[in-house]
Amino acid sequence: MKITVAFALAADLLFSATTHAFALPPLSTTKLRKRAPGLSANANACDAPVSLNASTNIWKNYTLHPTLAWRNQINAAAAAIPDVELRKQALEVGKSGTFVWIEGKSQISKIEDVVKDLPCKNVLGLVISGIENKACLSAGTGLKQTYDYAAEYIDPIAKVIKAHPNSAFALIVEPGVAGNVLLDVKEYYGVWENENSTSCKPVIELWRQRVQYALKALNLPNVVLYLDAANGDQLGWRDTISYVAHEFTNIYVGAGSPSQFRGLATNVAAYHSWDASPGENFLNVDAAPAIDALSEKRYVYYLRKSLNAFKSPLPTYHIMDTSRNAVLGLRRDWRDWCNINGAGFGVRPGLQATSDPMLDNFVWVKWGGVSDGSSEVGAATYDSYCAKDDAVKPSPERGQWFQSYFETLVSNAKPVFRPS
Ligand SMILES: *[C@@H]1O[C@H](CO)[C@@H](O)[C@H](O)[C@H]1NC(C)=O
Ligand SMILES: *[C@@H]1O[C@H](CO)[C@@H](O)[C@H](O)[C@H]1NC(C)=O
Ligand SMILES: *[C@@H]1O[C@H](CO)[C@@H](O)[C@H](O)[C@H]1NC(C)=O
Repeated sequence: MKITVAFALAADLLFSATTHAFALPPLSTTKLRKRAPGLSANANACDAPVSLNASTNIWKNYTLHPTLAWRNQINAAAAAIPDVELRKQALEVGKSGTFVWIEGKSQISKIEDVVKDLPCKNVLGLVISGIENKACLSAGTGLKQTYDYAAEYIDPIAKVIKAHPNSAFALIVEPGVAGNVLLDVKEYYGVWENENSTSCKPVIELWRQRVQYALKALNLPNVVLYLDAANGDQLGWRDTISYVAHEFTNIYVGAGSPSQFRGLATNVAAYHSWDASPGENFLNVDAAPAIDALSEKRYVYYLRKSLNAFKSPLPTYHIMDTSRNAVLGLRRDWRDWCNINGAGFGVRPGLQATSDPMLDNFVWVKWGGVSDGSSEVGAATYDSYCAKDDAVKPSPERGQWFQSYFETLVSNAKPVFRPS
């Protein structure tokens, strides 16, 4: 098996505010404590430094922030829907928060922009995504990192966060890498088809170094850290789960067991259910029997079992992306990831009664409505997965707004959006 599960970028092209005709109601910002003027650019920030206790579930006290860029995008998209009922439903989408994607060093300035109006009761979700090699190397491709990851990406992010001690941040560290490189972990260890691979080794090693650096440098009092753990499809395999458990543990310990490390983020930009039993029903089941994790709950339990077997100290509280997982059983194959046809917005971010003490929260990480990649041969972000039977075609370039897909996500949302 040698596949690359490409990774869905979020909203990089959408960041600039768009005009809108249908304004959302103001955010609930009751009882905000105001700081003394002149101390911070953000008049809504807390009046004292925020100190998050990563031994507790911070989502009990904080709401994932819906940024102005996100709300503007949703307002504009809703305004373009002729059907009155659907338009009203679409307007509800912007009331829920999403993470903000910092994809590379050119996007670090986004943080200053979005922290400006962050209320004290809200937490700013940031996706730390600066590793450019997200998959093992194929012949002819080199290690790609066009800038110094530590000095030019992580350090400046840490600096901005330090400059806003009175604001709370939740970070997801490097989604899209573990799922790709650890999928081939057996190859790296030389047990995959009895052959040692030279293609994964440098990528895995750089991933370890960089993620460790990020976890160390971003271990700040006003931050909670979640390490991306991909999803059950990619890493919940019977014959590799133990390697995955060791990799995550080694990274955590190697980073000095950071005090602000809370656990794992799963299902980022993916379509899995939290606890459907037995889980996703693939139309093509060839590979499925080897996967012991057809729902994210099963995946994290399975991973914990593996961690417990060697008394791993890795904290495994977790958050799960539910931005596009309302409808199950749409994918023909477990590898499929691109603009899946028939998807819907899933459970809204916010504390849910899951009765699972290890699940901190459902969150929206992927911006529902942003294309995962292009289905058109010759396009810059063409990917064969975006042209498969279960993907919506034609699809625009990765990162671009995909209006019809957004409308599908709204129509198929579970729970249904009920305009108030
Ligand atoms: C953090 O929370 C844990 C668990 O509730 C508690 O035992 C610990 O004292 C708290 N730490 C601080 C610094 O408040
Ligand atoms: C939430 O805030 C309350 C009041 O400030 C505090 O006592 C409590 O420890 C906080 N809980 C968490 C999980 O952060
Ligand atoms: C692959 O590499 C590992 C680690 O260097 C080594 O122990 C193993 O014997 C190698 N396997 C093969 C088939 O060469």
